[in-house]
Amino acid sequence: MEEIKISATEDRNTTYKELLPQLESLIAREDDFIANLANISAALKQALPYASWVGFYLLKNGELVVGPFQGKVACTRIKIGSGVCGTAAKRKKTIIVPNVYEFPGHIFCDSDSKSEIAIPILKNEDVIGVLDLDSAEYNAFHDVDAENLQRVANIVVSLAKVNRV
Ligand code: SME
Repeated sequence: MEEIKISATEDRNTTYKELLPQLESLIAREDDFIANLANISAALKQALPYASWVGFYLLKNGELVVGPFQGKVACTRIKIGSGVCGTAAKRKKTIIVPNVYEFPGHIFCDSDSKSEIAIPILKNEDVIGVLDLDSAEYNAFHDVDAENLQRVANIVVSLAKVNRV
């Protein structure tokens, strides 16, 4: 494997600018979907110190099931339309939640979580999963995160063969 130097910087734009090409090279020569998601979640956690939990939920038989992640133990299954992740999947839109206590139906996996962002992963308009990040700080996620994590979701889509997910 090529050497990967993933690090947090002061400026999020710079962090993402350095991170995204490294994610591409991290997964370039591996075609195992789960292995790649595992390394992507580790790389994001390493680069984004404000994230306390980073991981994937994957759609299986109409429900979101937890996939590779970094952080504390999480809820295993989330119904479409439930919580932040299920709502992002249902709306097919990224949701930024500055204060999880104010999001109706938020699912508490980790009592440290104060804010959250959930990015639906869409392949040909169909939801195949959700990329979810939590923070122990309020208002941790901004548009710059939404924009760049959408790019990460696009990388995941490019990896997903329909028969693997
Ligand atoms: N808070 C999420 C549940 C998943 S975890 O935060 C890892 C939600 O409301 O969907």
